[in-house]
Amino acid sequence: MLAGGHGTRLRPLTFTGNKHMIPIANQPILFYSLRHLANAGIRDVAIVLGPIEEGIREAVGDGSKFGLRVEYIVQGDPRGLAHAVLCSREYLGSEPFLMYLGDNLLQTGVTQFVDRFRQVAPDAVVGATPVTRPQGYGVVELSGDQIVSIEEKPTRPRSNLALIGVYLFTEAIHPIVGSLTPSRRGELEITDAIWRLWQTRQRVSVIPVSGWWKDTGHPDDLIEANELVLQSMPPESFRIEGVVPPGAHIEGPVAIGPGTVVDSNVKIVGPVVIGSDVQIGSGSEIGPNCAIGNRAFLDRATVRRSVVLEGARIDRVSVTDSLIGRNVEVRASRPTPHEFTLVIGDSSRILL
Ligand code: TTP
Repeated sequence: MLAGGHGTRLRPLTFTGNKHMIPIANQPILFYSLRHLANAGIRDVAIVLGPIEEGIREAVGDGSKFGLRVEYIVQGDPRGLAHAVLCSREYLGSEPFLMYLGDNLLQTGVTQFVDRFRQVAPDAVVGATPVTRPQGYGVVELSGDQIVSIEEKPTRPRSNLALIGVYLFTEAIHPIVGSLTPSRRGELEITDAIWRLWQTRQRVSVIPVSGWWKDTGHPDDLIEANELVLQSMPPESFRIEGVVPPGAHIEGPVAIGPGTVVDSNVKIVGPVVIGSDVQIGSGSEIGPNCAIGNRAFLDRATVRRSVVLEGARIDRVSVTDSLIGRNVEVRASRPTPHEFTLVIGDSSRILL
């Protein structure tokens, strides 16, 4: 509920594609955004599903474990964020809503946006932050608090301010979204809708993002997001529940899940999160900035600044800045002197 007691409701939408269940610090990316919504006092959430549902319905269910009431809307082919709003028209009715891209991670959550929306009561609130490669984003050009231009993935960006994946709208967006035509890349662009909203009513509030923000669309971003989340986790979330013999060297914040067994000749330097039922064999070195999923198996392996998903097996190989998929096997017949940077999809097998 937004503005409790005033009867104003804010229905959020979290959009999904095919990367939302990838874990960051061993929690699916999508779960962070759901918690952010709950922390901002939002209760009703619709998750917009693309062609690949990724097991999201099973993992999130009715949302009660997040303190939310979750429903699902099937968009099917992703024909643009404005198209996703169009598909959600019936669910949204005439209520204000928050759209949160399910592959975005914000250090400080969405409360700052919700607060601005309540205080200023504009037609839209969007967040912007400087980026080094604006060509890959929706780019907003500002003069004071006035918007000069908004362009989606411009070849010649007019500023370095990227729009982040959190948007709040009133129902004023609906007629605009309904009148859009596909962009050059064939999508109904939310940036076009925001630009028109600004041109017609001048009531769009752009606020700077405090804390870090990551769009995790690319493996490098995922690895960086994993590092940022690990570094900002509170000390109490690092608990050692598995078996760690006295001879193992554990340094800094390290979480080890139940059923995990660490050999005595192992070095782990936090921040590191290791799931449950993992086996870490002799001679392995892990960390800093690693997340190791449940049931992984590491033997004489070195893993630094990487995300290793559940069931992966790394044997006599050193990896850094890597994303190792579910049930992947990376193995060398004898220890290799090199450190590899690998991005490997689920269930692959690599013999070095
Ligand atoms: P992306 O496909 O990453 O959108 P983008 O425009 O940022 O993509 P790219 O830079 O690769 O061109 O999707 C961002 C989020 O929005 C993600 O959670 C999937 C969701 N989404 C929808 O729900 N419906 C859509 O039609 C689109 C395009 C994206």
